[in-house]
Amino acid sequence: MPARDDGFPSGEFFDAISEVLHVSPEPGMYSAELFKSKKHETFLLSTSRPGEGHNAPLPGTFVVKVFDAGQDDAKARESATLASARARGILVPCVVATAGRFLIIEHLAGENASDVINGPATSDMKDDVATKLGTWLADFHHAFSDGQEWTIRGDSNLRNFIVEAGSGVVVGIDLEESGRGDPDGDVLELIDSILITNPGIYTTAVLETIRWKFSLCGSLLDAYFKQMRVHGHAIERDLDDFLDQLIATMHRLSFRRHAQDVFQEQERDLRDMLHHELRSCFIIF
Ligand SMILES: Nc1ncnc2c1ncn2[C@@H]1O[C@H](COP(=O)(O)OP(=O)(O)O)[C@@H](O)[C@H]1O
Ligand SMILES: [Mg+2]
Repeated sequence: MPARDDGFPSGEFFDAISEVLHVSPEPGMYSAELFKSKKHETFLLSTSRPGEGHNAPLPGTFVVKVFDAGQDDAKARESATLASARARGILVPCVVATAGRFLIIEHLAGENASDVINGPATSDMKDDVATKLGTWLADFHHAFSDGQEWTIRGDSNLRNFIVEAGSGVVVGIDLEESGRGDPDGDVLELIDSILITNPGIYTTAVLETIRWKFSLCGSLLDAYFKQMRVHGHAIERDLDDFLDQLIATMHRLSFRRHAQDVFQEQERDLRDMLHHELRSCFIIF
C-alpha cells in the first residue's frame, strides 16, 4: 500500500484510534483497500499481522469512512442513524467507533446491490434482492415513524445496500443523508437507481431489452407496499399520481447526470413500460 499524504492509513488515523480504543496499533499491522465511493474515501482495513500488548491490532476487518474537516455533522448523523436503526432492529452494520475524522464500521462481506442486480446472478436472485430492498425501506420508514413525521434514509441508491455473501440478507449502509422527509423519495430514487444502472435506460435505445429491470421495480414496490401494510400504514395510492412523481424524480436526477436529453427522448416509452409493470402493485386484494 503506497503512503498517502492525507494521513491514511498512518499517522492521523492511528493517533485517532489509539485515543478512542486505548490501543496503539502500528500502521504496519494493517493493509487497506479503497472502495469505489463517490462522496468519501472509504477503506477496507484488515489486520495483516498479529501484535501484542499495547501494540495489539484491532482484530479483523473493518470499514473506515473518512470525512473531511467540516463534515462533522454528516459523520454524526451517519453514526447516530446507524446506531438507532440497529437498536430498532433494522439491518445495518454496527458502528465500531468514531475517531477524529474517521468512522469505523463493521465490515459486511458481500456485494453491493448494484453489482448483484447488474451482474451475472440468476433472475430469481435479483428478484429476491429487489423484494428485500422494498421490505428494508418499509421497515426503516416504519421504525422511525411517529405517525406524523417520517425519517428517510436519503441517498437511496443500489450501491448503498450490501447483499451479504451466503445468507443473501440485504443490509443498508451510508445513512449520512438521513433525516426528515417524504418516504416516497427513498422509493422513487431506488427505482431510478435500478433503471439507470448499466444495463439501463441510458445504455439501451430499446427499453424492451431491459424489461426485466422494470419487473424488478415492480417486485420492489410490491414488497414496499405490502410491508407498509404489515406495519399498519394505509397505502391508498393512485398509479398515475405515482408515475407522475416517478417521472419527475427521474427527470430531476437526469440533470445531475447531464442526461436530460436522452431522458426526454425515452420519457413516453418509459412511462408506458412503468405503467404496465407497476400497475399490479396498485391492486389491493
Ligand atoms: N459496512 C460496509 N461493509 C461493506 N462494504 C461497505 C461498508 N460500508 C461501505 N462499504 C463500501 O464502500 C462504498 C462506499 O461507502 P459509502 O458509505 O456508501 O460512502 P460514500 O458516502 O462515499 O458513498 C459502498 O458503496 C460499499 O461498496
Ligand atoms: Mg454511498
